[in-house]
Amino acid sequence: MTVAERTPLVEMRDISVAFGGVHAVRDVTIELYAGEVVGLVGGNGAGKSTLMRVLSGAHPADSGATLIDGTEVAIRNPRDAKAYNIETIYQTLALADNIDAPGNLFLGREMLTRIGTLDESGMEDATRKVMGRLNPNFRSFATPVVSLSGGQRQAVAIARAVHFNARILIMDEPTAALGPAETAQVRNLIRQLKDDGIGIFLISHDIHDVFDLSDRISVMYHGRIVDTVDKAAVTADDVLGMIILGKKPGEVSEKELAAIELRG
Ligand SMILES: Nc1ncnc2c1ncn2[C@@H]1O[C@H](COP(=O)(O)OP(=O)(O)OP(=O)(O)O)[C@@H](O)[C@H]1O
Ligand SMILES: [Mg+2]
Repeated sequence: MTVAERTPLVEMRDISVAFGGVHAVRDVTIELYAGEVVGLVGGNGAGKSTLMRVLSGAHPADSGATLIDGTEVAIRNPRDAKAYNIETIYQTLALADNIDAPGNLFLGREMLTRIGTLDESGMEDATRKVMGRLNPNFRSFATPVVSLSGGQRQAVAIARAVHFNARILIMDEPTAALGPAETAQVRNLIRQLKDDGIGIFLISHDIHDVFDLSDRISVMYHGRIVDTVDKAAVTADDVLGMIILGKKPGEVSEKELAAIELRG
């Protein structure tokens, strides 16, 4: 089957969101297929997080439609999003610092024993199982996550999403706070999730992350999509030009190119 014949995992159609007079997102249409990473890039305030907050149920759209597997759905809150197997991983991770990895994996969705007490060993076993696949070197199952590295904390957050059957993963700057080794670790995790058939929206300011991991790249500028391109069809400079100028490569004049010093 060609891509055109497959049904996208997610389609957001003509989505708009305004905050008072600020048009944060304007008529944005974007699609995501299973096993695909779509990089979402753009300058500060371009509307990336707001668009993804619509998909994660954190903010309603003023207009437009969201389809999952080709069917229009109403995502009114984060719980609705979870019911559609949409999980979100933010840069500022919502982990409970003073509890361990299993406790965080099951935070708010705890496993209970038959007599209604916390099933600590069941939760630890499940955590070991998912971590064994994602990050076999992870050993810190009884350590409060506050003393884990940034990369390990990301692994815990990703394990949580995977355990709860994420099909659609939104990652908003997942490597922004990480050092090079930890960034490499998270990149490996993203590749694994993609191989598992999960569709990922990846917001990042790091053009290397985006080029390394994405299949397609959508560029936002002042709330609009400038273009969505196949990674293989563009250069990093093309994408930087779209981010900075809000125009497709063919629409940019030599003068504009020179002004932003992409060449030289
Ligand atoms: N809750 C809010 N109330 C008012 N305005 C908001 C709110 N959230 C976002 N905005 C505005 O909407 C626009 C888009 O913001 P958004 O956070 O989506 O951008 P972004 O592309 O994620 O930027 P960054 O790369 O800096 O994270 C900005 O002008 C921002 O100030
Ligand atoms: Mg943002």
